[in-house]
Amino acid sequence: MSGAGKPDFFYREAQRLGYVARSAFKLLQMQKQYKLITPGSSVLDLGCAPGAWLQVACQSLGPLKNGGLVVGIDLKKVKVPAEHCDSRVQTVCADVMKLPRAHVRELSPQQKGFSVVLSDMCPLVSGISSKDAALSLELDDNGVLRRGGNLVIKLLESEDVQEINKICKPLFRKASLLRPKATRSSSREIYLICQGLQSQAKT
Ligand SMILES: C[S@@+](CC[C@H](N)C(=O)[O-])C[C@H]1O[C@@H](n2cnc3c(N)ncnc32)[C@H](O)[C@@H]1O
Repeated sequence: MSGAGKPDFFYREAQRLGYVARSAFKLLQMQKQYKLITPGSSVLDLGCAPGAWLQVACQSLGPLKNGGLVVGIDLKKVKVPAEHCDSRVQTVCADVMKLPRAHVRELSPQQKGFSVVLSDMCPLVSGISSKDAALSLELDDNGVLRRGGNLVIKLLESEDVQEINKICKPLFRKASLLRPKATRSSSREIYLICQGLQSQAKT
């Protein structure tokens, strides 16, 4: 629904196309522009409820025979959506901030880390410390993001964006900021999209 409670274009499109939330269009736009998820990718989706990004991530893996994996984590218990998801999608109910990094890594293929990490956790809920924790979770030595991997983090438009952009830029081949078309006009959210983790990063 829109901020005024009236169904908006993206809400109606989500209903029509079988996505569980309009947020699907944010990741679809990122996919179209940056091709973050490719067939066979292993994707970690932090803050995955109600599951629209799980759907888009699974679709982006292509046919089942291509392999790949999507693991979603959320404070809420999430039922894997029946539409657009298949047996490659699994969810874990946990607080990302309290999950030991080694445990998250164990969820990845051969425990080698994920090739894509998406964080759509609400900054208002998780706060600035979660952003820092998410960063260290993803980039630290033995972190959960593999070398060459891609990272998406939701931020609020503020000075922090520049600060975090400065941290990420040297670590990745490319870092970009995107305000997706499906973002509500009243929202300050912006996504930092980092492509190609260059080497084992230090926090
Ligand atoms: C905007 S929603 C994500 C929407 C999702 N990307 C989708 O498309 O369906 C943000 C989610 O982050 C979760 N979240 C916030 N802080 C969290 C934390 N510390 N650990 C796990 N999940 C968290 C919330 O429970 C909420 O479901």
